Amino acid sequence: MSNTILVGAQWGDEGKGKIIDYLTEEADVVVRSQGGNNAGHTIILGEEKYVLHLIPSGILRPGKTCVIGNGVVVDPVALVGEISALRERGIAINKNFLLSESAHLVMPYHRELDELREMKKGKKKIGTTKRGIGPAYGDKVARVGLRVGDLLDPDSFRQKLAARVKENNALLKEAGMKPVSLKEVTESCLEAAEVLRPFVTNTVAWLHTAAEKKKKILFEGAQGTFLDIDHGSYPFVTSSNTTAGGASTGSGIPPHRMDSVIGVMKAYTTRVGGGALPTECPELSDALHKKGREFGATTGRARRCGWLDLVTLKYANMINGFDDLAITNLDGLDDAPKIKVCTGYKLDGKTLKLPPFNSADWDRCVPSYTTMPGWMTSTESATKWEDLPAAARAYVEFIGKSLNANVSIVSVGPARSQTIRL
Ligand code: GDP
Ligand code: IMO
Ligand code: MG
Repeated sequence: MSNTILVGAQWGDEGKGKIIDYLTEEADVVVRSQGGNNAGHTIILGEEKYVLHLIPSGILRPGKTCVIGNGVVVDPVALVGEISALRERGIAINKNFLLSESAHLVMPYHRELDELREMKKGKKKIGTTKRGIGPAYGDKVARVGLRVGDLLDPDSFRQKLAARVKENNALLKEAGMKPVSLKEVTESCLEAAEVLRPFVTNTVAWLHTAAEKKKKILFEGAQGTFLDIDHGSYPFVTSSNTTAGGASTGSGIPPHRMDSVIGVMKAYTTRVGGGALPTECPELSDALHKKGREFGATTGRARRCGWLDLVTLKYANMINGFDDLAITNLDGLDDAPKIKVCTGYKLDGKTLKLPPFNSADWDRCVPSYTTMPGWMTSTESATKWEDLPAAARAYVEFIGKSLNANVSIVSVGPARSQTIRL
């Protein structure tokens, strides 16, 4: 494997964590380049379940280095909590972990503002994870953010934080919300800073040295293509570039150093939070939820489920340029007698080949479906292509052909072993 960008091809939760963990065996370094602890990446290792939010999903593989790049927004207290929880479970986090000094900080007032903005939107709320992601990226773009590097100089951090807390508390008070305590925020941040200090560095320079030494770098996307701030179903999106380009800006590794892009997609579609989901199918949602599947890894919310949507996936391919596809959760369709696939949209009598610009229009799109036969048998123990039933192989081949991309991984369960390499 060479330098590989892995992104979610849909609305997040495609199984990126599982695929990153699997591919890390062949990589040297795993980098997160955007998002924050809104992400929830699940890895099942034997009987153990790990849900990672900020720490890259390569951390469970000894001997690999995990990097939080400059494009990530970091809640320092949450990160320390995640490190401690992993250490308690016997996962080593020491020289195998680096944190960019340039990554922006998520502060308690960001979380409060996230909550406030959602409340104000009422029925039109985005359904954010309430982790403060939007307000933190907002401060970054407005050039008033605090960064990880700022934490390392306590006196100057105190001053910078005091100014930010003053401004944000005024907003909170005006809205009738409880202001945050400057004392408490300062103390918790500076306490977290001492745990994080050994990991903080210029990760751009570190990654360049690694690349020069021909180390194989895996870029772990968070969220998914249609949650991208530029290309997603705006405003029902997150606040970062979740698409392939984000890996460069969020890590400092130039585009020409990237060798390939892997799109991770579920064999169907899920979405958590508000916004368009034209192929949403309550029966499919019910069937998956009854099996205990499709509940959010970060917030526990039930994910909305629907059939595969080739209109969105083709657009995702345009934006990301997938060299390879990893199709996960094929086993989620094991009980479906018939499988529907959306091949086009109809809107006001017109046929659309692309998602419309306006999210409200996207929501009104009526999918045109093609129906494929199901396989009605468990795929969970398949370990090679030939083990899959013919109808399942036909479904996977249809997806690859429709997207003109090479399907190189098929996943039939959450465990490492339930992965078929093509
Ligand atoms: P991520 O955010 O993209 O890493 O995905 P999540 O971890 O939020 O959600 C994916 C869920 O599907 C998790 O519970 C995984 O353990 C699970 N998963 C991943 N691949 C498969 C698969 O092929 N089959 C099944 N049954 N579960 C899978
Ligand atoms: P992973 O990395 C699925 C969604 C939220 C909401 C919108 C904005 O696990 O795939 P935010 O808190 O980012 O401001 O919320 O984005 N969202 C995700 N949905 N998976 C995620 O991450 C998500 N991260 C954010 O539900 O609709
Ligand atoms: Mg997730």
